[in-house]
Amino acid sequence: MDASAFEKLSYGVYIIASGCSDEKNAFVATTAFQVTSEPLQIAVACNKNNFTRTFIEIFKKFSVSVLKQDYTPSILGNFGYRTGRGVNKFDGIHYKLGPHTSVPIVLDDAVAWFECKLVNSIDVGSHILFIGEVMDADTLTDDTPLTYTYYREVKKGKAPKNAPHGVAAPKDEEPKFEKPLTNNIKSSTMKSYECSVCGYVYNPAEGDPDNGIAPGTPFEELPDDWTCPLCGVPKSDFEVKND
Ligand SMILES: Cc1cc2nc3c(=O)[nH]c(=O)nc-3n(C[C@H](O)[C@H](O)[C@H](O)COP(=O)(O)O)c2cc1C
Repeated sequence: MDASAFEKLSYGVYIIASGCSDEKNAFVATTAFQVTSEPLQIAVACNKNNFTRTFIEIFKKFSVSVLKQDYTPSILGNFGYRTGRGVNKFDGIHYKLGPHTSVPIVLDDAVAWFECKLVNSIDVGSHILFIGEVMDADTLTDDTPLTYTYYREVKKGKAPKNAPHGVAAPKDEEPKFEKPLTNNIKSSTMKSYECSVCGYVYNPAEGDPDNGIAPGTPFEELPDDWTCPLCGVPKSDFEVKND
């Protein structure tokens, strides 16, 4: 089997929330999609180990927030790379309650949302396919929605183990230098650092141009307030990457 064929499948990136005003949780999912138009239904593949699974099963409702392409990294770090067990993932998050079911709906970085009543659950192995009937929906902004391809290829994001797709992490490319390294920095002495939360690799040869970090900047010289461009955690969460 050619495993790379799976990389040709297209997905969006969503936040799936469930619960009520007092108790709520949410996770990031790529596997949310409209399955029927009559009735209007959306399916979500939720890993059996996700804390949010219990909320969906107990409250029998969930919401789907469509993330924008220009998302804040910490949104993915918060909802996609840590579990809500013992942590309030909604701390500091802008959300509202759905008009029909009072399900929490994450509004931060969302371009649209759907409010769903759980109508079916199918055990599909590692995941449960939750089918929800759409009770309401709204468009919030005209921003471009985030696709999983953009997340992987532009943001260099990876799928954590609870995501359903078996897509291999992108291979490190040969470093491309947009400008020569300064004389006092030898590429052989510059180490790559890996984010211990999301797996993003800071390659000093590439820098982080999207955030004003020039190619050739060693990790040690990054500003103290630099954060992981993928999940938003600080420098202290990075470790030397030993190849
Ligand atoms: C880009 C991305 C895509 C993901 N897709 C899914 C998915 O489709 N289904 C799933 O169950 N988990 C998916 N995950 C993993 C969950 O978001 C993650 O395990 C989360 O920490 C679960 O949170 P919870 O335990 O609080 O419910 C994805 C994570 C990321 C970052």
